[in-house]
Amino acid sequence: MRATKSVRLDKLLANLGYGSRREIQGLARAGAIRLDGAELADAGDRIALDPDLAARLTIDGAPVDPLPGLCLMLHKPLGVTCSHKEAGPLVYGLLPERWRRRDPPLSTVGRLDKETSGLLLLTDDGALLHRIIAPKANVAKRYRVTLDRPLAGDEAATFASGTLMLEGEDRPLLPVLLEAEDATHCAVTLTEGRYHQVRRMFAALGNHVTALHRDRVGGLDLPQDLAAGAYRVMTEADVAAVFAGA
Ligand code: URA
Repeated sequence: MRATKSVRLDKLLANLGYGSRREIQGLARAGAIRLDGAELADAGDRIALDPDLAARLTIDGAPVDPLPGLCLMLHKPLGVTCSHKEAGPLVYGLLPERWRRRDPPLSTVGRLDKETSGLLLLTDDGALLHRIIAPKANVAKRYRVTLDRPLAGDEAATFASGTLMLEGEDRPLLPVLLEAEDATHCAVTLTEGRYHQVRRMFAALGNHVTALHRDRVGGLDLPQDLAAGAYRVMTEADVAAVFAGA
């Protein structure tokens, strides 16, 4: 059996963004940190990284934030950018302020344009992130598209052909599934993630995307009750759903 890993309390809490190691020692001395209700007075002590630790460890009576290995689904609203450092509103600004000091940091799993809404995953688990975005993982993304002009009728065949070349590129796109909903609305499902891919695909056919919303990643749907701007910690089943059907 593998032994449970242990970690120094001050390091664990500093990496969750609760302050410097010195500040955490101050919290411990003040009696603010408890494990299963018992005071932990020395932040230099090691504690076992049990899977349920976040529920049992409290600071000022509140359970600590989720431990590293965190995976989130966020309903990205329009007008926020998937970046750590660009000007203007950022997706990270939709998360608790303390989470911006986490180490390892949270990163978006791929990106959505500033003017695209919908399901965006974030994780601090680099290996998981790469497993999702790796081409061989074949994780499909579905977008709901609103178009400026009516569909001509031949778009589905062109997208499915695997021959469509985007401007400035030297490799055709992999086949994309288009499902028409009405004259100016459709869903497209793709496995690649090229820059502005959906907008450029329609631009290549002389149309223009006026609204874009991602509602599915792999087999994971954006929950109906997750409002724009809100996020949720993913369960193991949610993570498994991302890879379902790939
Ligand atoms: N394709 C786009 O054009 N934009 C996105 O945000 C995602 C896919």
